[in-house]
Amino acid sequence: MCGIVGYVGGKDCADILVDALSKLEYRGYDSAGIAVFEGDRIVTEKTKGRLADLTEKMKKGHKPSGTSGIGHTRWATHGEPSDVNSHPHGNAKISIVHNGIIENYIRLKAFLIDKGYEFESQTDTETVAKLLDYYYNIEKEPIKTITRVLAEIEGSYALGIVFADYPGKIYSVRKDSPLIVGLGEGENFIASDVPAILKYTRDYYLLECDEIATITSDNVTICDIHGSEIKKEVQHATWDIESAEKGGYAHFMLKEIHEQPTAIKTTVSPRIMDGMPFLEECGITLDMLKSYRKIYIVACGTAMHAGLVGKYVIEELARIEVVVDIASEFRYRNPIIGSEDLVVLISQSGETADTKAVLRLAKDMGATTLSIVNVKGSSIARESDFVVYTHAGPEISVASTKAYMVQLSIMYLLAFELAYANGKITEEECKALVSELENIPSKIEETFGIESDCQYAASTLVNAESLLYIGRGLDYALSMEGSLKLKEISYIHSESYAAGELKHGTISLVTEDMPVIAVATQDRLFDKTVSNIKEVKARGAKVVMVTKNTVDVTSDVADVVVKLPVVRDVLMPMITVVPLQLIAYYTSVLKGCDVDKPRNLAKSVTVE
Ligand code: G6P
Repeated sequence: MCGIVGYVGGKDCADILVDALSKLEYRGYDSAGIAVFEGDRIVTEKTKGRLADLTEKMKKGHKPSGTSGIGHTRWATHGEPSDVNSHPHGNAKISIVHNGIIENYIRLKAFLIDKGYEFESQTDTETVAKLLDYYYNIEKEPIKTITRVLAEIEGSYALGIVFADYPGKIYSVRKDSPLIVGLGEGENFIASDVPAILKYTRDYYLLECDEIATITSDNVTICDIHGSEIKKEVQHATWDIESAEKGGYAHFMLKEIHEQPTAIKTTVSPRIMDGMPFLEECGITLDMLKSYRKIYIVACGTAMHAGLVGKYVIEELARIEVVVDIASEFRYRNPIIGSEDLVVLISQSGETADTKAVLRLAKDMGATTLSIVNVKGSSIARESDFVVYTHAGPEISVASTKAYMVQLSIMYLLAFELAYANGKITEEECKALVSELENIPSKIEETFGIESDCQYAASTLVNAESLLYIGRGLDYALSMEGSLKLKEISYIHSESYAAGELKHGTISLVTEDMPVIAVATQDRLFDKTVSNIKEVKARGAKVVMVTKNTVDVTSDVADVVVKLPVVRDVLMPMITVVPLQLIAYYTSVLKGCDVDKPRNLAKSVTVE
């Protein structure tokens, strides 16, 4: 939530800050602002709305001119999106940008009001700005001031701070919100995430909790809260710039859907050796896999849906019990986990607050933790006992597609390896499964051939106020993801229901005004799902059916049929999700919604 950036160098920086922020808008986009040194004056421009609104405002009014400054794109937590709640916050002496939540801000605010400070915004961030001012008046020096403030504030933060007395310098510190320091030639940066700096440099430091960075155009020093200097290892980003651009597609989401075959190849290939799954490079051995009593998969949103597929597949192939849960629920329900259990955390960003909390809880309770993460060096990746990186590259669209797909790939590899380790499948069977997984990218390319069918299906749904997704088994897990995608980006209410459970209440909602998307790709359950489809058809529902291209569907079963290339049933989810993504995408486009930046959402949810 929220993206922060900072620049110190030789170039006029307002445009650089806005450009860097544009790569972070996925983190929040309800207001934006920058603060730039004009000589030794801090000049701030900020506004409610998108970055484009900030650019427009600066075009009509004043664009700060100077070679160092900080910037922010916001996802509101405390206080509605408004000009006054926008960052940067501060006064003529100190200005800050903040990502995170200051949990004790009410107490701190009361303390500051008592000292005579007046507040104009509803944000927690303004408290930090004023607290910095309070301690700066005592300490008269930035690092000591920051250290005093860190001792007071509780919660999560990544902060970019400038002091008018120190033009050309940015101070930065973080706890539980991500922050990197980009290292350029005669210019340096801070940013919440790598895509913001890629155009300028690939080298960066990962700032650890409570490390304080002092950044000038030609120097970066990092110290701890006692002022002792810390030597950091330079990280090198391998993501290419093009992957953070739209590359001719109308939206990032469509581009990312089309990147899925490549993302699978890049994720799967390094994990195969002699035709067998090979997770040993991540430290995961067959002996280790044999030893677990139970597996927990915990995550949020789309990542949790990838875990649901994982549950079906692991239980089916490896015959080990798997519990899947939502991180925000799991962390507060006093879970029964111990040293015999494996807790798998799935997270694209590696920064999701609830998932991170579960990781820490699981470690405290003695379980082994394995994370499946897309962002290298993110908190969840660093704190887990084992990490398997997915290689989706940067995912910009808020609605996740390719990240889900590569999470599925790892779920499959893990299931195959577990099944083999537990003697449930032979080496030959394992190799056959791996080989079919390797062939999935070409099957997905084939699936793109039905894109126009998905567009047509979307056109039949666009006026609906509410939809139902139904399926059984793996198709039910896929229905959940399809329903979430549609809700996120088209704002059409939908619910996903286990097809067999429908008649126990929910079918009373079904009328001719409520279309049903039925997913039926599992041979074993096909006839049962068709019976359930007939039940909704009999109540007047228009049915879009997603099934295999080997199946004949008559018009008394479905009004629109989307037919998929066939792979073995257990692997069908990797094919099935594609039309569900495309149907959601085209529905959103037809409704004229903001596909890549749906209202109220943020991609990286670093608050609980
Ligand atoms: C947010 C995003 C979702 C994502 C979820 C978990 O809600 O909008 O797309 O699935 O967070 O994020 P993570 O980074 O942990 O996968």
